[in-house]
Amino acid sequence: MNYIGSKFSILDFIDETIEDFVKPQNNNLVLCDIFSGTAAVGKYFKRKGYTIISNDIEYYSYITTKHFIENNSDITFLKLKKQGIEDIFKYLNTLEGKKGFIYNNYSIGGTKGKEFERQYFSDSNALKIDAIRMCIEEWKGKRLIDENEYCFLITSLIESADKVANTASVYEAFLKKLKRSAEKEIVLEPVEILKTNNNRKNVVYNKDCNELIKEISGDILYLDPPYNNRKYDTNYHMLETIALYDNPAIKGKTGVRCETTKKSKYCIKKEATGALEELIKNANFKYILLSYNDEGIIPIEEIKKIMLKYGKYKCYGRKHRRFKADRNRDYIKNFTIEYIHCLEKNLDSNIE
Ligand SMILES: C[S@@+](CC[C@H](N)C(=O)[O-])C[C@H]1O[C@@H](n2cnc3c(N)ncnc32)[C@H](O)[C@@H]1O
Repeated sequence: MNYIGSKFSILDFIDETIEDFVKPQNNNLVLCDIFSGTAAVGKYFKRKGYTIISNDIEYYSYITTKHFIENNSDITFLKLKKQGIEDIFKYLNTLEGKKGFIYNNYSIGGTKGKEFERQYFSDSNALKIDAIRMCIEEWKGKRLIDENEYCFLITSLIESADKVANTASVYEAFLKKLKRSAEKEIVLEPVEILKTNNNRKNVVYNKDCNELIKEISGDILYLDPPYNNRKYDTNYHMLETIALYDNPAIKGKTGVRCETTKKSKYCIKKEATGALEELIKNANFKYILLSYNDEGIIPIEEIKKIMLKYGKYKCYGRKHRRFKADRNRDYIKNFTIEYIHCLEKNLDSNIE
């Protein structure tokens, strides 16, 4: 998925930085990815054998991360009287389309003549998304699927729907004409299951990180907060609604959700520095790594100052190509410098 601030393309840089700064003797470590997004970082270190704690304030990220991080073995669908994953997906892919929230609010057919006509999906794809989403909810309601199976199916739907979305990249706007990929019929495809055989308990949360940090501990805390005021709830409102399927009140041309409960301090210039310091201060982790680029709203000098207060500090940097949707904006450079600020925390500083 094309995700603002995704670290997929710099996973090797994060890994090298950990190797150099932390010098892990083995993979018997607990790493917390507290701003999980697409779970790219958690997935990478889960594959390496680390125990993972993940978290994100957005529900779509939580449920998809929960699948990738907490599901450690085969998914069986024992209670559904079908043969297995292939059979389940075949069944869902051949469901008759149904008019539901996505069709009624985000397709031309469903919004024609209404105050705002929207076209985030073709009519037939919107009908299919609704039909599949309703079926998953019905299975859950009848206890025919468990939580692991539910997360796996919702994650598969979110990723498959995103592939046929009629947007330039994020959901803050839709395109006037259906683009080629959006004309294609949606195919629900099973997402990967990351199996582990080390019996470690990986855990995923859906909380504000500054609250969660008081409840957890581990070895490495990886921080990847938003860098600027582009909010994830508006840019990915569609994924949130497919994940929650809660018939939300929506507004305006883009049909974003009206709720404003999840304001992130990391997107607000006046509050971001204070929130970061509080997070670092309360962290019960020996090593803290912060990804932040040179255009973020917290000045680099400020980050250095905060980290130096709590222990040993080192900074690593690498050139990084700009996020796809941002390349069309009026920027001078096509790249940014991605920094990883590292702190070896003096944990005695946790005691006031
Ligand atoms: C830069 S993205 C993380 C990208 C991720 N590392 C990846 O590779 O996909 C920042 C994430 O932080 C989440 N977020 C923002 N404020 C938060 C908060 N206060 N607590 C927890 N998560 C937050 C956003 O929802 C978003 O998914």
